[in-house]
Amino acid sequence: MIIAANLKTNMTRSKTIIYIKEVDSFAQTTSQDVFVFPAMSSLDDFHTTKTVVGAQNAYPTVNGAFTGEIGLEHLEEFNLKTILIGHSERRHILGETQEFIVDKFNFFKEKGFKIIYCIGEPLEIREAGNETMMQYISAQYEGIDTKYENLIIAYEPVWAIGTGRMPTLEDIQNIHTQLKKKSPAPLLYGGSVKVNNTKDILNIENVDGILVGSAALNADDFSTMIQIAQEIENKK
Ligand code: PGA
Repeated sequence: MIIAANLKTNMTRSKTIIYIKEVDSFAQTTSQDVFVFPAMSSLDDFHTTKTVVGAQNAYPTVNGAFTGEIGLEHLEEFNLKTILIGHSERRHILGETQEFIVDKFNFFKEKGFKIIYCIGEPLEIREAGNETMMQYISAQYEGIDTKYENLIIAYEPVWAIGTGRMPTLEDIQNIHTQLKKKSPAPLLYGGSVKVNNTKDILNIENVDGILVGSAALNADDFSTMIQIAQEIENKK
């Protein structure tokens, strides 16, 4: 399974180095696919053996005049080949449009990056019913090569991110079943995943892994989630 940590705007470089070392030493003992996305200024030569380190964001350029952004050459300096695109915080707080997200997607696809592409609906859309919700989510697939071989999709309801609120397990299963028809890519669930709900979420049909924010900030907790995934796989 795929177990990914989005550290967002947390952890300085020194803390991130310790965190990744700890997570990687645990991940090595498992057969899970583990990803960590540190803050940009916390990137380093991490020398991981199992954990794949990725970028939370980058501008679709090699370099250039894009104040405050980083480009491909900054990722290449650390051998990064994985990127998160379309996270709800970038869509809703930073105002990234679907058009811009598609530009990013195409740029990093062309460079062969593994892309974790995030989708998800705000609460008012969810409350408008399944049809409205699926229309909204479908628009987030527009322009995206859903058959890209290095694609992973993460379904993250906006209202569940960092809030402690979550769809029911049945709702997650329903949505994932509908989304699986749109793309053969592995499909992660994200939004208030914690140690105590990891097992239930990973046991849902069509959930191929999790993308974890706040609960992943503790290396022991994140390692426990990796362990839970391993135990589920061992039983199969
Ligand atoms: P959360 O964040 O686990 O804190 O809800 C998930 C995410 O934004 O990927």
